[in-house]
Amino acid sequence: MRTFTNVKDLGDLNAAILEALEVKKNRFNYKALGENKTVMLVFFNSSLRTRLSSQKAAMNLGMNSMVLDVNQGAWRLETERGVVMDGDKTEHLLEAIPVMGAYCDIIGVRSFAQFENKADDYSEKVLNQFIKYSGRPVFSMESAIGHPLQAFADLITIEEFKTKPRPKVVLTWAPHPKALPQAVPNSFADFMNEADVDFVITHPEGYELDPQFVRGAKVEYDQKKAFEDAGFIYAKNWSAFRDDVYGQILSKDMNWTVDAEKMSLTDSAFFMHCLPVRRNMIVTDEVIESPQSIVIPEAANREISCQVVLKRMLEGLAPKSPEGDFAVAK
Ligand code: CP
Repeated sequence: MRTFTNVKDLGDLNAAILEALEVKKNRFNYKALGENKTVMLVFFNSSLRTRLSSQKAAMNLGMNSMVLDVNQGAWRLETERGVVMDGDKTEHLLEAIPVMGAYCDIIGVRSFAQFENKADDYSEKVLNQFIKYSGRPVFSMESAIGHPLQAFADLITIEEFKTKPRPKVVLTWAPHPKALPQAVPNSFADFMNEADVDFVITHPEGYELDPQFVRGAKVEYDQKKAFEDAGFIYAKNWSAFRDDVYGQILSKDMNWTVDAEKMSLTDSAFFMHCLPVRRNMIVTDEVIESPQSIVIPEAANREISCQVVLKRMLEGLAPKSPEGDFAVAK
């Protein structure tokens, strides 16, 4: 595996789930794979789960890990080509990326949407430069438009907790005080559309997601109707995708908060959220603290989704050239 940015990179999804369950049972069986190999985790944005689970996955595989917080101690990076660099940005990504590639075998990148230009966000400007210029396998640790490690962990969790072969899974929008990217719901839809589930998305009008991710999913604007007979409720806030309101908050309607009354409409559904979560905005204390809440096992599976991706990337590594095999941007 050279890249992990979406569900297609996993190939056969059922095989990936089986591999994840096997890795979870025997997570220290692959230590030889990562011997003398290094993963570099590059963060342009904050993280708790992704940072820790990725390092833990690397340790399970016998790898070394290095973490770079770009905004805390590194030079400020220019991402635009052709600019006269007479401002506060000291280094260009086009040098910084191959330099990072020279120090490691695999790179993980977290770089959120900027909400300044929709076309830039949806072209994955930063992530794609790492793919193009690092010379290393690159995995997304949440990019401008996707969070595939999260969605893969979500799918593993659904597989573990489902009580019927094809459960109904509902992705519901819920209110939040800040404008959030569409990365998590995009990837969740990307994965659920390929999984053996009955997938429904519910949100207020105006919050339609990118059709490339929604694909054939049913969109139901009545949240209570969507919840009927659901086996899993996956709550998440996102900002508007539509061109004229891209990145904006259109509603903070607290009637969309997931509460016990709405959960009672489901088929004893499990409650999921990627975390961090704003309690009593997205979900009530009562629901997130209930026995049906599986947010902690879901977060724990982030270690497993990352370990499968790192394991596949290690298995695909060519012997390293002593001269270095990274690309130099021209
Ligand atoms: N779910 C998730 O990616 O959490 P962090 O932002 O804390 O990494």
